[in-house]
Amino acid sequence: MKLLILNGPNLNLLGSREPDIYGKGNFEDFFRELQQKYKDRELVYFQSNIEGEIITKLQEADQGFDGVILNAAAYTHTSVGIGDAVKAIQTPVVEVHISNIHSREDFRHKSFIAPNAKGVIVGFGLQGYELAIQSFL
Ligand code: DQA
Repeated sequence: MKLLILNGPNLNLLGSREPDIYGKGNFEDFFRELQQKYKDRELVYFQSNIEGEIITKLQEADQGFDGVILNAAAYTHTSVGIGDAVKAIQTPVVEVHISNIHSREDFRHKSFIAPNAKGVIVGFGLQGYELAIQSFL
């Protein structure tokens, strides 16, 4: 089982960015913990602040990956291109958000990804990524 964790813009700042909302943990440390815990799965991590790079990664993930765990961050709410890429590929995509986007500003309630995602996990902090891994069992 090979899974791609794909993070979008500003998620490289986890730990220092708005810790009240996103927590104090940094993603690289958390990812290493996930790799230790889920040794039976091959976990790959990629983060980009660039919309097109996220689209290219989704297209590439269609070859060789069993699933994608996608937190497209702010692009979730704006990117028709990322939504189209999720629709275009066969590999199932689980959408994750650290915060509960539905309890925040109205503009965060819209997702271009959700209609074509296998499922959506929001509001559980970094644990949401782990729940997404478990959803691929
Ligand atoms: C986020 C929620 C988005 O609205 C926001 O733009 C992010 C992070 C989350 O994980 O809670 O950057 O995707």
